[in-house]
Formats: sequence, C-alpha cells, structure tokens
Amino acid sequence: MPAARIVVCKASSLRDKQTVKFAFDAGAGVREGFVIALAGRVYAYRNQCRHIPMTMDWVENRFLSRDRCHIQCATHGALYEIDSGLCVSGPPAGQHLRALPVAIEDGKVVVTIARDADASAGAAD
Ligand code: FES
Repeated sequence: MPAARIVVCKASSLRDKQTVKFAFDAGAGVREGFVIALAGRVYAYRNQCRHIPMTMDWVENRFLSRDRCHIQCATHGALYEIDSGLCVSGPPAGQHLRALPVAIEDGKVVVTIARDADASAGAAD
C-alpha cells in the first residue's frame, strides 16, 4: 500500500501560528495530526504528546500556549517548540513531537503518511 497524501487546507488560508487538524489511518486505527504555520513555513506533527500518548488539545484545535510561542499539551502543560517539535519544558523535556512530512503543492498543504505509520513511529523511539 503506498503512502497516503492528505490535502489539509489551502496554503493561503493558513495564517501564522494557525493550526489545522486532520485525521489519518496509521495502520492500527485512526490518528490525528495538525499543521501549523510559522514565519512562512509549515510544520506537521502527530497530535500525540510524548509524555503520555494522548491528544494534546483539550479544546478542539487549540494547541498553543497562552503566549502563543509554543505548542502546549493541555494535560500536564509540556511546551514544544513550533519549528522543531522539541519539548523544552514539562515531563517529556528533550523529546520531540512526531513530525510528519509536509509540503506545499499547487497552493495546498499536503501531508504524507507512511504506510504502517504507527510501526514507523514506534521504530523511531
Ligand atoms: S500528557 Fe502531555 S504533558 Fe503529560
């Protein structure tokens, strides 16, 4: 089975520090991811904290800290850098969010999900 390509949104509709969620089949069930724009670039991550493997947005699609400088897990407050996914504060400090390949194609934000993405993510730990 080839990798899946997910068209998340129009690139022109994604404002700086705006997030857009999407769902994907990771091979062992449906998972969530999100894209976020920062300084003209777009990043994509799984919506899964590195402390406990649960989603990070208690409020739907709210991923940013109060000062909007970091991605924040709502459960215990871990802070991740937007551009690298590195956790700089909180229980999983030093670990990275699981990044997903993302590109702008024909004006659209497209995320590529590898076949058996759950297995791949586990191998990267
Ligand atoms: S589950 Fe995210 S910081 Fe604990």
